[in-house]
Amino acid sequence: MSLPTRFPKNFQLATATAAYQIEGAKELDGRGFSTWDAIRSEYGRIRDASDPNLSCESRLKYKEDIALLAKIGVTSYRFSISWSRVLPNGTLSEISEEGVQYYRDVCLLLRDNGIEPIVTLFHFDMPLAIYDNGTSWLNKENCDHFVNFADLCFQKFGDLVKTWITYNEINMQAWSSVVKLTGEQWLCPDRPEIENHNQSPYIALKNMLLAHAKIYRNYEKNYKKIQNGVVGITNGGHFCFPASHSPEDQAASERALDWFFKSTIDPILSESGDFPVSMRENLSFLPNFTDDEKAILKGSTDFLGINYYLSHVVRGVSDNETPPSQSERDGSYAFVEGKWEKSLVTVQTSIKNRNFRICGDTWIRYAPDGLLALLEYVKEKYNNIPVFITENGCPDIVGEEKKPVEEILNDTHRIKYITGHLEVVAKAIDEGCNVIGYTLWTLMDNFEWDDGFELRFGICRVDFESPEKTRTMKQSAKFYQNFIREFKKHH
Ligand code: NOJ
Repeated sequence: MSLPTRFPKNFQLATATAAYQIEGAKELDGRGFSTWDAIRSEYGRIRDASDPNLSCESRLKYKEDIALLAKIGVTSYRFSISWSRVLPNGTLSEISEEGVQYYRDVCLLLRDNGIEPIVTLFHFDMPLAIYDNGTSWLNKENCDHFVNFADLCFQKFGDLVKTWITYNEINMQAWSSVVKLTGEQWLCPDRPEIENHNQSPYIALKNMLLAHAKIYRNYEKNYKKIQNGVVGITNGGHFCFPASHSPEDQAASERALDWFFKSTIDPILSESGDFPVSMRENLSFLPNFTDDEKAILKGSTDFLGINYYLSHVVRGVSDNETPPSQSERDGSYAFVEGKWEKSLVTVQTSIKNRNFRICGDTWIRYAPDGLLALLEYVKEKYNNIPVFITENGCPDIVGEEKKPVEEILNDTHRIKYITGHLEVVAKAIDEGCNVIGYTLWTLMDNFEWDDGFELRFGICRVDFESPEKTRTMKQSAKFYQNFIREFKKHH
C-alpha cells in the first residue's frame, strides 16, 4: 500500500500560514498596528533587520495564493484572521468593514476552489492599542477583547468557516509573555526585583485558557447549532524522551512533558481540570482555578491542534548541578521550571545526532519518532480526542541561501522530512490514534518572526527581491501535490 492510500477518506491534507507572516499591506483596510509592527520597526529585534514593508504581500496577492493552493490540491488551508485588520484598536469600538470583506473574499474563493478554510484567531500578533505597554495576556481586559473579537468572527465568517482554532501554540505564547516588545526580558526569573516575576507566564496562561474556554462556550451556545462547526486549540508539541532507563531520568522526562506540553492541555482535557501534579508540587506560585473556572474549562475543545517540530531528551539534574541557561539556542537549553524553585531537569544534546544538516544551529530537529510517541500519548491520556496536526515542516538549508535558485528549489531534504512525518502519522492511525489532518508549514517562504527572512519554511519559494514577489513551487510542493493527487484518486 502506498503512503497516500494509507490515510482515511476524510483525512485533511493542508498547508498553513499566519496573517502577520504573509499579508504585508499594513495600512490597508484601516488596519491598526500590531505588536509585531512595533517589534519590527521600532525595536530592531529581527535578526536580518528585514524591511517591514517587505513580505509576500498576500493581502494583495491572495487570489494568486489561492490559485497556488488549488494547484497543489490541498483539501484545507489554515490561515489566521488579523485581529488588527478587523478591529484596528483591538476593541469593538471600531470595525473595519474592508478588513471583514477581505477575509470573506478569501473564504469565498477558497470554498469556490473546494478548499476548506481553517481559521486561527490568534497567531502571535496583538493590536498594539491594547497591548498596553507590555501587559499583553497578563491583562484580563485584553482577554475580554479577544473573546469579543472571536464572537465578531463567528458572526461575520461563521457561514463560511467550520473549523476554528482559538490560539496558535498557546504554550509558546504563554512562555513568551515574559518578553517585552523590545526583546528585553521582563517579569522574568532572574529579575527578582519585579513583583510576581515567577508567576507571570502562568498568569498569562490562565488568562488565555479562560479566554479560550469562553470562546468555546459562546460558540457552543450561540452558533454551533446553526453554523455546525468545531472549535479547537493548538499547542506546540514536544515529546520528551528519558535519557536512560534510570528512575531519575524517567521522572525528569515526565516533568518535562508536563511543563512543555501538558500544562496547557490538562486544564482542558484531564480529569482533574488542573495543571499537572508535578507542576503543583514544584511551583508554589501557580495560580489556582476556581470550581466555576474548572467547569467552563473542562472539555472545552472539539479537537487538539498540535504543531510538531522537535522533541527533547531529558535527564534528571542533581541538586548541586547548575543547569545550562534557557536562552542557549543550541539544543541544550535548560528547562527553567527548576531554576525557579528547584533544578529539576536539563535537556540533553544527544538528540543532535538526529539533526539534519538543514537545521544548522536552529531549534528544529528531525525526530518523527517524537511525533509518533506524542500521538500515542495523547490517545492514551486524553481519551483519543481528535488530533489535527496544525503545523509540521522545516526550513531551507541554513547557510546555503546564496546557492543557485535551482538548487534551492530542489529541496530533497524537505521531502525526506515530510515523508518521515507522514509515515509516522499513518502508523499512528493504524494503531487507532484519532488523527484527522496534517498541515504543512508553510505554503510559501514568509516572515519568520525574530528570524526575519533568514529561515524559509515555504514549500513554494518567494522571490522577495522581485516587485511581483514571484512564487515558485519547490520540489516539495510538487511532492505534496502528487501525494494529495494519489490520496484523492484512492478515495
Ligand atoms: C510555529 C509558528 O506557529 C509559526 O508561526 C512559525 O513560523 C513556525 N513555528 C516555524 O517557526
